[in-house]
Amino acid sequence: METPDIEFQDEANTLNFQSASDKFYNVLQNDLPEFTQLFTNPEKQHMMFYAALRSIDGLKDNKTKLAVYLRSIGVKHKMLGLTHYHMEIGRNAFEQAIFAGGKDLTHDQRQFYIDSFSQIEKNMGF
Ligand code: HEM
Repeated sequence: METPDIEFQDEANTLNFQSASDKFYNVLQNDLPEFTQLFTNPEKQHMMFYAALRSIDGLKDNKTKLAVYLRSIGVKHKMLGLTHYHMEIGRNAFEQAIFAGGKDLTHDQRQFYIDSFSQIEKNMGF
């Protein structure tokens, strides 16, 4: 029997933020062509999702701070004028992103990120 590669197993058990972000932008750009035009600064577009996922991940053991952070994201997107329609497309992109970047995550680990999306939507009143 082969000796398991411990380092690889550790890596496999965390979300790959880069793969998740690539997927998120690919799906959104395909399903929401006006997506790019919503951005005031093109550089921000590439940072938006990646940075947010990292922050959400870093706050997973601090429910209070996580709630504050998710509220700020909800408020920001409400101000940007994102509608329920945008968020439905966003949810599909988000779920695909978590699957793409978290192939080896457990159901509960994936659910944590998906619940965070639901929280953002809820904060937007959807
Ligand atoms: C329907 C899906 C989404 C769309 C269309 C969208 C679009 C945008 C746009 C247009 C901006 C503003 C960028 C600018 O000012 O140039 C933005 C900012 C941001 N978005 Fe999203 N977004 C979506 C979903 C999400 C999700 C799910 C998250 C978190 C996981 C997120 C996190 C952020 C963050 C952290 C910012 C920066 C806020 C700041 O400037 O303080 N977005 N988003």
